[in-house]
Amino acid sequence: MKQASCGAEQCAADGRKPGCAAASCAACAKADEDGFAQVPSAVFRRPERTELRGPERPGRELRGGGFSPPLQAVAHKLFVMSGKGGVGKSSVAVNVAAALALAGYRTGIVDADLHGPSVAGLLGSRPGAVGVDEASGKLLPAEFMPNLHFISMAALLQDRDRAVIWRGPKKSAAVLRFIKGVEWGALDYLIVDSPPGTGDEHLTVLKAVPDILAVMVTTPQEISLADVRRALSFLKTAGGKILGLTENMSGLSCPHCGGDIRLFKKGGGRLLAEEYGIPFLGEIPLDPAAVLSADLGLPLAAADGDGAAKRAFAALAAEVDARCRAGAAVDFAARRQ
Ligand SMILES: Nc1ncnc2c1ncn2[C@@H]1O[C@H](COP(=O)(O)OP(=O)(O)O)[C@@H](O)[C@H]1O
Ligand SMILES: [Mg+2]
Ligand SMILES: [Zn+2]
Repeated sequence: MKQASCGAEQCAADGRKPGCAAASCAACAKADEDGFAQVPSAVFRRPERTELRGPERPGRELRGGGFSPPLQAVAHKLFVMSGKGGVGKSSVAVNVAAALALAGYRTGIVDADLHGPSVAGLLGSRPGAVGVDEASGKLLPAEFMPNLHFISMAALLQDRDRAVIWRGPKKSAAVLRFIKGVEWGALDYLIVDSPPGTGDEHLTVLKAVPDILAVMVTTPQEISLADVRRALSFLKTAGGKILGLTENMSGLSCPHCGGDIRLFKKGGGRLLAEEYGIPFLGEIPLDPAAVLSADLGLPLAAADGDGAAKRAFAALAAEVDARCRAGAAVDFAARRQ
């Protein structure tokens, strides 16, 4: 069967054409279904406007508006970003969220990493923990504690080991749904955990939540710092604001003698923050307890005991909270540099 809307034959041969979101495109629909039979249709039940309008230039299209005023019932919105994967974005998102919740704030987490959703696992959630409100059609976030809820693809899928194979428009729709199509209620903090890089998901978040503040995560090595520079350049082009930068995996406290081991070096994040004139939010050391707690599904910030990373996450959350309440963010787009 030939479908006209986006040139299905070409889509079948080359993958979906850029911008093809046509439901009638058989080839593209097939490509999506193949990798995605498991996602409940609830994710798309009330489709919101998903395509980014205008030319594919982030600066223009993001400033173009077109969405309703965002999330008025949420006091502070944070966007945990980095250039790279594996630097600790999800760990930072989850631990800062848990520390804020323990301090009494109503907190929500959106896991915008559709391909590598780790928030649900870090919070020990079972598959299917996200529900749907039949009356409103909105998603009901999973609960970690009474004032900490979250949405993650891994809490929606019945089989969390199944890969999500989606192209841009569908990813944007899912991210939008995870942010705006959820019964969050009133929140003090909404924390969006992002995938690595600067792709469709990031653009969608910035467009849907223009007042979101980026918390940049880096490790001390140059390879991570270089990616953070690119992420900062992306934020500047896209008109994003930044709260500050944190250095994770910053030194290791020797379990035997307590000495400071500089496994991945140390201090590169602080220097980068100075170079770009953005606030440095603090360092989190490497700590085996962080790995254990991740595997257990219990964030260090909410676990018993005391340790270097737990103290650092608590200090980071306090710094983030103080800066949010003071309204201290750097408007990158307004900068000359
Ligand atoms: N400070 C830390 N100390 C020890 N392990 C850490 C620390 N931060 C993160 N990790 C571990 O590193 C891995 C990657 O972290 P993660 O938060 O998933 O990164 P990202 O979200 O950037 O991909 C995980 O196994 C996590 O437990
Ligand atoms: Mg992650
Ligand atoms: Zn030692």
